[in-house]
Amino acid sequence: MPTIESILKETRIFSPAKEFSSKANIPSFEAYQALCAEAEDDNLSFWAKRAQEQIAWHKPFTQVLNDRMAPFFQWFSDGELNVSYNCLDRHLETQADKVAIIFESDDGEIIRSTYHDLHQRVCKLANALKSQNINKGDRVVIYMPMRIEAVVAMQACARIGAIHSVVFGGFSAKSLHERIQDAGAVAVITADEQVRGGKRNPLKLIVDEALSKADTAFVRLVVVYQRTGADIRFDPARDVWWHEFTENAGLQCEPEWVGAEHPLFTLYTSGSTGKPKGVQHSSAGYLLGTKESMQWIFDYKPADVFWCTADVGWITGHSYVAYGPLAMGATQVIFEGIPTYPNAGRFWEIIQKHKVTTFYTAPTAIRSLIKLGADLPEQYELSSLRLLGSVGEPINPEAWMWFYEKVGRSRCPIVDTWWQTETGSHMIAPAPGAIALKPGSCTFPLPGISAAIVDEAGHDVENGKGGFLVIKKPFPSQIRTLWGDSERFKEAYFSKDIGCGKYYVSGDSAYRDIEGYFWIMGRTDDVLNVSGHRLGTMEIESALVAHPSVAEAAVVGKPHEIKGEAVIAFVVLKGQYPHAEEITQITHTLREWVAKEIGPIAKPDEIRFGENLPKTRSGKIMRRLLRSLAKGEEITQDVSTLENPAILEQLKYPEK
Ligand code: WTA
Repeated sequence: MPTIESILKETRIFSPAKEFSSKANIPSFEAYQALCAEAEDDNLSFWAKRAQEQIAWHKPFTQVLNDRMAPFFQWFSDGELNVSYNCLDRHLETQADKVAIIFESDDGEIIRSTYHDLHQRVCKLANALKSQNINKGDRVVIYMPMRIEAVVAMQACARIGAIHSVVFGGFSAKSLHERIQDAGAVAVITADEQVRGGKRNPLKLIVDEALSKADTAFVRLVVVYQRTGADIRFDPARDVWWHEFTENAGLQCEPEWVGAEHPLFTLYTSGSTGKPKGVQHSSAGYLLGTKESMQWIFDYKPADVFWCTADVGWITGHSYVAYGPLAMGATQVIFEGIPTYPNAGRFWEIIQKHKVTTFYTAPTAIRSLIKLGADLPEQYELSSLRLLGSVGEPINPEAWMWFYEKVGRSRCPIVDTWWQTETGSHMIAPAPGAIALKPGSCTFPLPGISAAIVDEAGHDVENGKGGFLVIKKPFPSQIRTLWGDSERFKEAYFSKDIGCGKYYVSGDSAYRDIEGYFWIMGRTDDVLNVSGHRLGTMEIESALVAHPSVAEAAVVGKPHEIKGEAVIAFVVLKGQYPHAEEITQITHTLREWVAKEIGPIAKPDEIRFGENLPKTRSGKIMRRLLRSLAKGEEITQDVSTLENPAILEQLKYPEK
């Protein structure tokens, strides 16, 4: 892949402090290497031992890995367990009164829920769902605000063996409909409204719209959590209030014991083509991945106050809010709001107030907080912090340094964690007591994770050269398949084009520096990373083209100071090329249209209109050129293969 060259040169290095290492779960580089060597030596025994130690099995497994149907791998498949039992019941004897969740609402209300309390809440909802004949294997869509109830809903599904599919509260009715439809959900759990940054979002209204078509008639129950008391439409045949529904439900609910491979959840994510993919995860392998990473990377200690700011609508909120921390018996913070409301000190205030020790957030949030108040952290007492984390996109070294100095006061290691919806848990990230950090590098793979950088033929590239980031050996927390589309699963992740289909292909490009550190360079497919959220260019293009006035559209990303990437759309309208006065109006219309079709996160930042798009003679859109145009770069590439080179001039400026 000769075109992938890295321009980033970072020479700063931060070794773990003795004070930190001496207490760390992986206390030295040698200890890290020993774990890697153990896995290298006998991968199956390595994982078997950990699965025995970490998981409370109802029935022990005898088989570790079944790879006869590769790439449909199965782990621990004859074992039986329940994930909710592992997250809740397991702690009742030893620490029932420990606070599991410190919840802070958008407007500052604080609710504490102990393991005892959380267990009861989960059992009640689980019993109520069962009373409506919702059982093992049924799909339940969760469309909830970031509150204790969202976690309760997920855990209740896990308890009865129902497969949840959480849809982020920022997605539109159309996106929600598509996911409900694809999953064949029998129930939806939602709230009357969501409140974030002082603004209300009418979740139930959106659910009603999503369910208005006959093709979702299989949804027979909608459970509505009352968040604001807003006046909502109620369909008595289908809708129930959460509080009424659970009022008389029993406080004990025997967990449904499921096989290790039973799907715990599906979660939809963007790919380069077609509709969103329902990534399907297992029960045991997934649980093991979240637990090991809690210990190795977050260096979990029982006295920690853990805070991952991700919404449960994303994988990070699954693994490091709803499952990982609870499986460890941790105390964690859940926050309903946004980092900048009522002001840009909100995160620091929460850390101070709840004495957070481990703080895990996204580069986009860090960048926006630098912009709005680079000195604000100084005004808060942040001495409880001992570890910081970053996820979702590459963190630029300057943002890393600010996070390290201003928030961590140069005392706290930063774990930059590379992973994906599909990997379920961290893949490449530093064990903080063992590995010297370089700002912007996610450092080294976790023990047992055979991450590598290869060329198209699947050969390792030498250090310093870019290539495809792959994982060579199967690992327990990996994606099992795409819901209802096993062919697409094989094509998307075990592509014959790279390494002949032998490896898990991540879709990212990366390189290793001279010391073997991994540096992520970006996606190799048509997926954008906007504020850490994955968006397929295809999805946005399809949404634009669905508008009656749009003939053709192409979407590319452009580097953005805060969001990482911004969405730039090139649009050809039906009929006449618009007049200058019309452009503002049609731009507004199309942006709102995309927000309605997909969700506000997908709104193009900029729309440029042209009479055509740059195409090759065979009609293929030259995205490479569009990317250069979006960045405002001079076109130096050869454009002689273009059918219509004159069009470039027209697309050069947003206002033309
Ligand atoms: C990107 C989020 C660089 C990457 C957990 C990946 C990162 C995609 C990092 C997955 C990181 C995630 N450094 N890039 N630390 N973490 N990415 O599925 O492109 O929402 O493929 O999972 O985010 O996004 P997803």
